[in-house]
Parts: sequence; C-alpha cells; structure tokens
Amino acid sequence: MTNTKVDGKSDALVFFGATGDLAYKQIFPALFGLVRDEGLTTPIIGVAKSGWTLDQLKQRAKESVEAHGGNTKSEVFVQLLSQLRYVDGDYNDPATFQELRKQLGKAKKPLHYLAIPPVLFGTVTAQLANSGCADNARLVVEKPFGHDRASAAALSRCIDQYFAEGNVFRIDHYLGKEPVQNILYTRFANPMFEPLFNRNYVRSIQITMAENFGVQDRGRFYDQTGAIRDVIQNHMLQVLATLTMDPPTGQKHEAMRDAKASLLKAVRALAPKDVVRGQYDGYHKVPGVAPASTVETYAAARFEIDNWRWAGVPIFIRAGKVLPVTTAEAIVEFKRPPRETFGELVAPSSAHMRFRIQPDVTVAMGARVKVPGDRMVGEDVELVLTRQPAADVPPYQRLLGDAMEGNSELFTREDIVDAEWRIVNDILDDVTPLYSYKPDTWGPDEAVELVGSDGPWINPAAPAGGKS
Ligand code: BG6
Repeated sequence: MTNTKVDGKSDALVFFGATGDLAYKQIFPALFGLVRDEGLTTPIIGVAKSGWTLDQLKQRAKESVEAHGGNTKSEVFVQLLSQLRYVDGDYNDPATFQELRKQLGKAKKPLHYLAIPPVLFGTVTAQLANSGCADNARLVVEKPFGHDRASAAALSRCIDQYFAEGNVFRIDHYLGKEPVQNILYTRFANPMFEPLFNRNYVRSIQITMAENFGVQDRGRFYDQTGAIRDVIQNHMLQVLATLTMDPPTGQKHEAMRDAKASLLKAVRALAPKDVVRGQYDGYHKVPGVAPASTVETYAAARFEIDNWRWAGVPIFIRAGKVLPVTTAEAIVEFKRPPRETFGELVAPSSAHMRFRIQPDVTVAMGARVKVPGDRMVGEDVELVLTRQPAADVPPYQRLLGDAMEGNSELFTREDIVDAEWRIVNDILDDVTPLYSYKPDTWGPDEAVELVGSDGPWINPAAPAGGKS
C-alpha cells in the first residue's frame, strides 16, 4: 500500500459531491471559515458529475456562503474563489481522476473528502488509488457509514484496501460541537463530579434530541434511513459515550478514542423490548417517501451498560422529528436521599446535572434548597454553571480543519463505528412495531411506558425566543 500514515498538514483539499446538498449547507461555509480563521491557502478542488463549469461552482459557493451569513464581498471570499478548482466527470471514468491528479499540481499530501453516498465509496477510493491520488493522502468520509453492521464492515474493508486507518477520518459532526466537548471537559476538569457519575449515585440518564421540523426535502434519503440510523446509531451514542466513558488514561494520541471505544463495547445490544418507534402523521406526504413507508421518524430506547461503573442504571435516548421544540439535552438524574428526612414528596429529577447541547451550550446542576420560613420544606433550584450561545466555529469547520492537520480525536474510528452498529443491529427496520404520533407532540404514548417507573421523561424547555 502506498498510503502510509501521513504526517503534517495536508496541502490540498478535494471534495467529492461538490454540487450537492452537503457542500451547499456545510462545506462552503466551513471552507470560508477556514480561509478566514485559519488562513487556509491550499488548492480546494470540487469534484462532481453535474456538467458544471468552475464558474457555476463559484456561483454556488457564493450563494451558499451568503445564505450562511458570510460576506461574499470580503477579501476572504475573493481568496477562497482563487483557491477553488473544479473537476467534472463520472466517478467510474479513470479520466476524471487523471484530471484530478493534474489539478492537484504540486500537492503531495491531499485530503479527499467523500461527501457522496456510501455506495460510491468503493469506486472512488479505488480510482483514487489507481490514479496515484491516494498516495500520501487522507480520506474523510461522511455518515451514514454503512446501513447495518455487516455493510459498515464491508465498507471498512473496501477503504482499508487503499487507505491506512490512521489516514481515515470518519465524520460524526456531533463530535465537532462545542457543547459535546463541554460535557467531557466538565466531567474531567472537576474532581467533584466524577465520583458521582456511577451506579451508586445515578438513578438514570436521559438524552433527548428533539427537532420541531419534519423531513423537509430529504424524503428519499430519510425513507431509507429512519431515526435510528440517522441520529441514534451515531450522534446519540456519541453523546452517551461522552457522558459515561472513563477518563482517558495516559498521554497516548488514541487515549480518548480508546476510552470511548471501550465504553461503547460495553453497551448491551438493544432487544425489541427496549425500543419504541414512531412516525409522525403526514410523513407519507413528504416527496420521496413511499406511500406505505414504515420508516420511523421517532425512536426511543432503553440502554444498559454492562460494566462496573454503570451496571443496572437505565439510560434512555429518544430522538424525533416534528416534536414541540428543537433542542438536544442530556440529564443525569441522581438518586433521591435514602430516607425522606423532611417528610416531603421530592420529584425524582430534583438532583441532577443538565447538559444542553442545542441550541445553546448549558451546564447546570439541580438541587433542593429550603424555602425560608419555619417549616422544613424545600424547592427545586438549578444552578447554571455556564450558558453560552452556540459556538462561532461550526462543527464542519472545526472537523475539516482538524482533518487537514491530521488530528483524529474528534472523529470516530472503525471499531467505534462497529460497536455502535452492534448496539442497534438487531432492532433495525421493522423488527419492532411502528406507532403514529401527532406533529408537535412528544411522540407516541408507548414511549411513556418504556421509561415506566424509571421516568418520567423530562421534556427540554423551548430555547429562549423559540417555539414552545
Ligand atoms: C444529521 C441528520 O446528521 O443531523 C439530520 O441527518 C439531523 O436528520 C441533523 O437533523 C441534526 O444536526 P444539527 O447539528 O443540525 O442539529
């Protein structure tokens, strides 16, 4: 293999799928940010099969950057355009890759970003290798990484043929989110929280990812994916791992990912009884969705972690479209006092830690304090440790910048992806019943039964100024 581990910075950025949706929504704004904030000066080469010219791609870049709040009259944007090149061609045609090799010019360490459907990964990686474009190259791949455990393994084998694992960067953009990093930071930068994060003190954990919009223009993609594959197998399990992993040990480069992998390998595989799937009324009318589709737009599941730290602690995750708010939040609920010293009925969630991931970054602690007066009664209060607006650096900018530097900490790894698929593999597709739910509700009632006496669900509040 000519693709041995690359050191130092990549000197060209190639992105496949240059005329697609992801490029418009995420990649151009990220590139603009990288030129502005990191002084990116390398050639940026878009590749697609759309019959476009470079000028058309530049126009698309302009529309995208404008739509995402960037100033296209700035020197930064002029600079970005001067770096932009375009190769139009079929991914099956070797000539496309010969042209790419030509456009790479003197670049010796390119980074190739596959913002294309996974079915094309095999073709593109083989062509990159055959044309010499894979020599000393890094590869960034997008989720969904496979459709189930077996297909993810097949995809990995196909990539492994041409790229060393150390050069492969698998994106889960949740890892590039500031609040997700903040969970880890808060846990391991403060010695007083860590002793509480285990089965002795924690009653349950809930993670909710709610979106108040539907599938919109992504019907075709979503109808082959569903909530479990779209966000639970990846984003939500990453949040779970971040909340529950052991502190990384040693200074080794891979220490953080090793700790996360070991946690995910301890998560028990879901069985049908652990899962409730829902579909919002009206989903069938979305263009691209099959008329009798049984794909879920909501899923809730009960997880258990089979290790000493977490044995027996129920962990609930739910994610859904067209719920009442757009918010993602994790709540660690502590156990209640062993005796009701003051004869009060205290809500189970009274003592907690709350990590808000979306839209703002919040870390808060819930506790019970006495109400002034002669009676020993209290009220629940929440101490906000930090509340900040969403980070300035969007996840894709952070991640692409890291990949160009060869910093892999915020990317998933082959064994982590496999562990994530193992957890959900037995409950994919129609193994469990599908319940309908009304738009703007918190999903099907069956999800309430899922939490049972370990509940109730704690619904995140609407963001300030948002829909309630
Ligand atoms: C994507 C999913 O990975 O994450 C989408 O495909 C989802 O369905 C999105 O809406 C949520 O991420 P963010 O960062 O936009 O909240």
